[in-house]
Amino acid sequence: MKRENKILIIDCGSQYTQLIARRVRELGVYSEILFWDSPSEKIAASNPMGIIISGGPRSVLDKDAPSLPKELISDVPLLGICYGMQLLAHMFGGTVERGEKAEYGRAFVDVQGGRLFTRCGGDKKLEVWMSHWDEVKKLPEGFRVTARSESGAMAGFESEDGRVCALQFHPEVAHTPRGQDILSAFLFDVCGCSADWTLGMEWIEQEIEKIRTKVGGGRVICGLSGGVDSTVSAVITQRAVGDRLYCIFVDHGMMRKDEGKQVMETYRSLNLNVRYVDAEARFLKALEGVTEPERKRKIIGELFIRIFEEEARSVGGSDWLLQGTIYPDVVESGHSGGGVIKSHHNVGGLPKDMKMGLLEPLRDLFKDEVRRVGAALGVPKHFIGRHPFPGPGLGVRCLGELKKERLDILREADAIFIEEIRRFGLYDDIWQAFCALLPVRSVGVVGDVRTYGETVVLRAVSSLDAMTAEWVRLPYELLDNVSRRICNEVPQVNRVVLDITGKPPATIEWE
Ligand code: XMP
Repeated sequence: MKRENKILIIDCGSQYTQLIARRVRELGVYSEILFWDSPSEKIAASNPMGIIISGGPRSVLDKDAPSLPKELISDVPLLGICYGMQLLAHMFGGTVERGEKAEYGRAFVDVQGGRLFTRCGGDKKLEVWMSHWDEVKKLPEGFRVTARSESGAMAGFESEDGRVCALQFHPEVAHTPRGQDILSAFLFDVCGCSADWTLGMEWIEQEIEKIRTKVGGGRVICGLSGGVDSTVSAVITQRAVGDRLYCIFVDHGMMRKDEGKQVMETYRSLNLNVRYVDAEARFLKALEGVTEPERKRKIIGELFIRIFEEEARSVGGSDWLLQGTIYPDVVESGHSGGGVIKSHHNVGGLPKDMKMGLLEPLRDLFKDEVRRVGAALGVPKHFIGRHPFPGPGLGVRCLGELKKERLDILREADAIFIEEIRRFGLYDDIWQAFCALLPVRSVGVVGDVRTYGETVVLRAVSSLDAMTAEWVRLPYELLDNVSRRICNEVPQVNRVVLDITGKPPATIEWE
């Protein structure tokens, strides 16, 4: 059976699994993720050119540690990373033991040969990122060592025929500078993949054709959020079905300054058939007196769905619901485990007895890929590059009760912060920047007069995927400008503070 030109990544619980999948796609090869405990038929049906087994927090020595049926992986090239290396050693008859201490962070390895290192420009010493405790002590029979760490620990091995490879370090992270060369060697030399995942007009035309065939003469409805995912989904669907796509944009009154207006202008310039619903008053009424973050989120989410449904009925119903689901949503909702930290909301949960079919044209794409498709479809650059914005909007950035006056204060302060970041040319380097308004007043003094004013927090983070984040070291001059401008231009505010917490332990949003 001819294999499909793609790589399957088996997730053993690593925080880097999605990053591996993205790195593979950056090299032009389609990749997909399945959990190690997915049904065997599902893994077999993937039929990839190669399999990468991810890292993970467990030890292969644990009783119920992640593993795979050997017959599923017996005739396909394999790359085990970190936990994946230990699992391969264990499965093929080698020995894994608990190391004396964990090895974590930047390290150097001595390359001793092997197919994975042939594209590293002949470097014999490589800088890598390590994060492990267990060690492979004895190789399976017929395998050879390809790299060792400076302490002498095994850092890589391969089978005699070079089709089973393993690395103790993480080639997918940026701290392993030769990481993409190593992954390239696996994809192209070991697996024989070709780089055909280009996401150009060809992919777009195919997707348009698929939507056309699926929808036939039916009608499609879509809730636009002002974000990139729903917008790109709508534009590609509009190309397929024209004005049989009905879009609804519910403005819950918790958008940023002038955002509702700007977003509508963009939608119109993209020829989307969109209805604007001003629901500010309904949302604020429903949120009166509510301060508890999860209740706020729940009220906003539920009311959003109710209004969307009312509007959908008023345009005469529909056969299809279009959603801007992207690949990380699919992967993250595919596995149980892990408690709810915050109840995220986009269009919200779908009713079980939904009569409409579901259209999700972007469900195989990562965010950066959605942006590429959007650009090719003519979505303006400034819109595509916007920082992520949560579904409940300023509702989760205005702590305490949500009142129009306080939301307006927050909108003004936030607009100043973003304007200054743009003026310093830093907007595109930052994952997300925004202001939050605290439920705290403090004493100040202006022109010999005592004030008792509001407190604004500045938050700017860098991140790859919002799972973890680091606070951005903004220039003092920028911070100074922002603080002065906010206090001068937003008279209710007399104090501006800076959030210097990473995620973990904080989250990016304040609620
Ligand atoms: P946290 O605060 O959980 O946020 O660190 C991680 C990323 O998710 C965004 N976020 C949301 N996005 N609906 C969304 O569409 C939500 O309810 C929601 N809550 C948080 C947040 O802005 C950050 O980028």
